[in-house]
Amino acid sequence: MQRNTVPLFATPVFVIKRPNAKWHNEEWLDKALSLQYRKNSGNWSSVETNVLDLPDWKILKDVVQTELDLIVKDFYKLDLSKVKLVVTQSWLNVNNDGEHHPIHTHTNSMLSGVIYLNTGEEDAIRFTDNKFNTRISFIPIPTINQPVEKGDIILFDSQLPHSVDVAKRKEKRVSLSFNTFVMGKLGSKDGLTFVNIENVKGVING
Ligand SMILES: [Fe+2]
Repeated sequence: MQRNTVPLFATPVFVIKRPNAKWHNEEWLDKALSLQYRKNSGNWSSVETNVLDLPDWKILKDVVQTELDLIVKDFYKLDLSKVKLVVTQSWLNVNNDGEHHPIHTHTNSMLSGVIYLNTGEEDAIRFTDNKFNTRISFIPIPTINQPVEKGDIILFDSQLPHSVDVAKRKEKRVSLSFNTFVMGKLGSKDGLTFVNIENVKGVING
């Protein structure tokens, strides 16, 4: 007899290491912290919710678009001339000493991402497996604390639950989060799956 457990279907989390990136020096941190913040669940988030559209954040928006394009082309194997993921909203998060961010997902978004401008020692983002029914937790739900460092960019399915643990901090943890949505032409007319998402602009006001 043999009993096997087959771990079907891994969950992709895209981790881009950019230790020499410019966006974790003093200048960028000052720029991030000069914005207005409001209390969020367990931490702070910027009042501005389109940070990547501010003129002096354009470099970072271009970096994000490059990474999104690579995922669409190399991972999803889609034609970038027909379909793209674009940033819909972007905001800054600050965790001070002893603060946390509770488990959540991002609604109305395909992929979400986080760019780390400042991190503490052994900092991380905790991902929780969304294949388990959280309403009846009769077994422990698997979680993984993915380590993060200054300069890193992490991208993941917006429906993947994530959180930041309470931590003792000497410095503020500063990150920029963003959501995305698909734009362009998807599916096929013959397969009755065709959608031209650009067309929505023409039929909905505002
Ligand atoms: Fe989040």
